[in-house]
Amino acid sequence: MTASLSPGTEIYPGPVSARPRAVVPDGAIGPTPDVEIVDVTKRFGTVTAVDRMRLAIAHGEFYSLLGPSGCGKTTTLRMIAGFEQPTEGEIFLDGQPIAGVPPYQRNVNTVFQHYALFPHMDVAQNVGYGLRQRKIRGTEERRRVAEALELVRLGGYDKRRTWEMSGGQQQRVALARALVNRPTVLLLDEPLGALDMKLRKEMQLELKALQREVGITFVYVTHDQEEALTMSDVIVVMRDGLIQQMGGPTELYERPVNRFVADFIGTSNFIEATVVEPPDEGRHVAVRSARGLTLRGRVTDDEATVRVGDTVTVASRPERLEVVPADAAAPVGAGITQINGRVQQGTYLGDQTEYRVLTEEAGELIVRHQNAAGAGGAPGVGPGDPVIVRWQRDANLVLAG
Ligand SMILES: Nc1ncnc2c1ncn2[C@@H]1O[C@H](COP(=O)(O)OP(=O)(O)OP(=O)(O)O)[C@@H](O)[C@H]1O
Ligand SMILES: [Mg+2]
Repeated sequence: MTASLSPGTEIYPGPVSARPRAVVPDGAIGPTPDVEIVDVTKRFGTVTAVDRMRLAIAHGEFYSLLGPSGCGKTTTLRMIAGFEQPTEGEIFLDGQPIAGVPPYQRNVNTVFQHYALFPHMDVAQNVGYGLRQRKIRGTEERRRVAEALELVRLGGYDKRRTWEMSGGQQQRVALARALVNRPTVLLLDEPLGALDMKLRKEMQLELKALQREVGITFVYVTHDQEEALTMSDVIVVMRDGLIQQMGGPTELYERPVNRFVADFIGTSNFIEATVVEPPDEGRHVAVRSARGLTLRGRVTDDEATVRVGDTVTVASRPERLEVVPADAAAPVGAGITQINGRVQQGTYLGDQTEYRVLTEEAGELIVRHQNAAGAGGAPGVGPGDPVIVRWQRDANLVLAG
């Protein structure tokens, strides 16, 4: 089992749109996804926790469900695990419908934020719990427990008491316990949430490496965009129970389809504008802001219809902008926008310096300069200084959603 054989890349080429669409194209032949969520809605009374979700999770991939608190991430996991039933729609595991199949008969395991280890058992007994439930005992149990502990780098810890271990170690025991049965899919609900930042970052890389090694499909829930970018093959961005966009980390960062995604993943500058020229073949449009700034940029959502007169938002990433002292401005080349402003604030962030610049034509813009060795940020630029903010046309992302 290798992740490079991921079937999803062939059958579901780069799903980018926020809109629901067919999970498997009509007539498609190919490997069955590990999990298919087909038109699933989950309501709790008047709350719609998950709204008409369509999602195919390909084998051997690392999926993240990313979104703010209350957007339906845990509910989605709980439906896959069998702890909740969909109000509408259907879920398939390995191509089989699973309505009515109890959680313990589903070939999935879950790791929660709070590890819920059994305090009266040592590490080996905790890890072997799922095996003993399946009547696997003795030498076979020991062999598989040892293997799972090796995987999470806890070889030799068999006899330790779990309450003697650190948070990170306890979470590894929980992982080993979930992996020992070799489930088809491992569901992880904010499993690193209780760890401090440094350990959390270490564990992110370890988890990713572990997933590659075992080749088991991971569905990972987080509200931390950086975590999702670090670990995932595919990120599913959710809001109010609705999938906003799904795709690889680069795609989501460089081509967010709407303002919510552009704002939730990374930082963006936003300029409200009206379309003044229709899209060309490359889907570039000309837009004009309320304050008269004309910009050109590419429409990020391939599915969106954009017409003259439509209101859109132009997003740009702070690292794609540059500030220079007002008197040092270079001539405006083709495809370059230059506007005047005044630095409100400059913040040294170690690897970079962030400037907040108030401009007449585009309001406040955030600009980030990488800090080269010995020098921080843009030369000769500080709070109160008149500056020019400049950027290339290809920094402009035109968001129709
Ligand atoms: N058992 C329940 N009864 C009633 N409402 C529920 C129940 N479980 C979830 N909800 C509601 O469904 C919505 C989605 O909840 P869910 O736990 O899936 O969110 P989440 O994305 O996991 O959020 P968080 O990041 O805070 O964990 C919320 O509005 C929540 O209040
Ligand atoms: Mg949750």
